Amino acid sequence: SLTPVVLSGGSGTRLWPLSRQQYPKQLLPLVNSHSLLQDTVNRLDGLADIAIQAPIIVCNEEYRFVIAEQLRLIGKTGRIILEPCGRNTAPALTIAALAAMQEDQDPILLVMPADHSITDVAAFQAAVHKGITLAEAGLLVTFGITPDAPETGYGYIQHGPELQESGSFQIARFVEKPDLATAQSYLQEGSYLWNSGIFMMRASTWLTAIGTCRQDILDACRAAWQPTVDGDFYRVDQTAFAACPSDSIDYAVMESLPAHPDTLPLGAIIPLAASWSDIGAWDALWYTLPKNKAGNVVRGDVLLEECRNTLAFSEHRLVACVGVDDMVIVETSDAILVAHQDKTQEVKHIVDVLKQNN
Ligand code: GDD
Ligand code: MG
Repeated sequence: SLTPVVLSGGSGTRLWPLSRQQYPKQLLPLVNSHSLLQDTVNRLDGLADIAIQAPIIVCNEEYRFVIAEQLRLIGKTGRIILEPCGRNTAPALTIAALAAMQEDQDPILLVMPADHSITDVAAFQAAVHKGITLAEAGLLVTFGITPDAPETGYGYIQHGPELQESGSFQIARFVEKPDLATAQSYLQEGSYLWNSGIFMMRASTWLTAIGTCRQDILDACRAAWQPTVDGDFYRVDQTAFAACPSDSIDYAVMESLPAHPDTLPLGAIIPLAASWSDIGAWDALWYTLPKNKAGNVVRGDVLLEECRNTLAFSEHRLVACVGVDDMVIVETSDAILVAHQDKTQEVKHIVDVLKQNN
């Protein structure tokens, strides 16, 4: 069977002021009337040929009620594992794998970030379908996106020879978040894909991999996984989990795979052409959303005059812009963001300053 694991611990600081610590981006209806988290959970509806278990959502304690309510609104239930603090994705997945093993006989985990937009759901499901056979056979499966810019915030996967399952390849190299010059060289090289951040593997495959690469993380997670159960909420042991080292799936395991085929599971990559977007910052949201003829994206009470390629959102007041191009303007009840499209990555620095001042 297949157990979806939704990682929902991030706080989405680059989408401030809509995304807030108390209400991060994955819980917002950014691209349609559903939140990104709701879309993520719904994305497997209709997937044939495999029993799909209720999803495991791993998130911070703070978000439990919003997440439970958002699941209820789409008619879904799930196990919601609560972290007392963030230890990045490797511990989050390890805890989910331990939980999944308890309920089921070594299910396949489909690990999905809660904050992506995928518009071609059929193509996504086809790729997942392809991955099932590989995951069943003990491979660690990734999904690759054809890169169109030297993004430095992504993992880059070089694909090796094609595997028996056609349309899937061995991972020759995995480089997490390279610097700009390296990313540019990968783009030119042509054999690299972006890591989509979606993974598929048996629960036992992950536990073997993390235990081999980071025994300390596996041990800490085993110690933390004596959950207190409260309805759908599963609380990990606070002290044990806080003592767990922090690391991501990518750094902790994925980068090491190609070099250690003898001790680690084999890595596979399946190209995914499904209009995928990591809604990381405002420019990505502008890019993803439908635009009018002038390239503008507006929401709420907004008036634009001679503006181009501008995203303008208003929640409370009329926002009027005249003669501005390539801007992001976001109005909320207590904060207004005015940023250039090219600089929206830097919004996180504003949030850092705000945190310091608080
Ligand atoms: N439960 C939990 N706990 N979830 C977490 C935590 C945590 O401590 N930290 C991050 N997450 C969630 C985020 O909410 C997001 O949904 C997902 O895990 C991925 O984390 P990010 O922090 O967004 O990772 P990234 O974007 O820098 O990099 C990853 O995704 C890229 C594609 O979007 C990597 O896998 C890259 O290789 C990949 O290219
Ligand atoms: Mg991300």
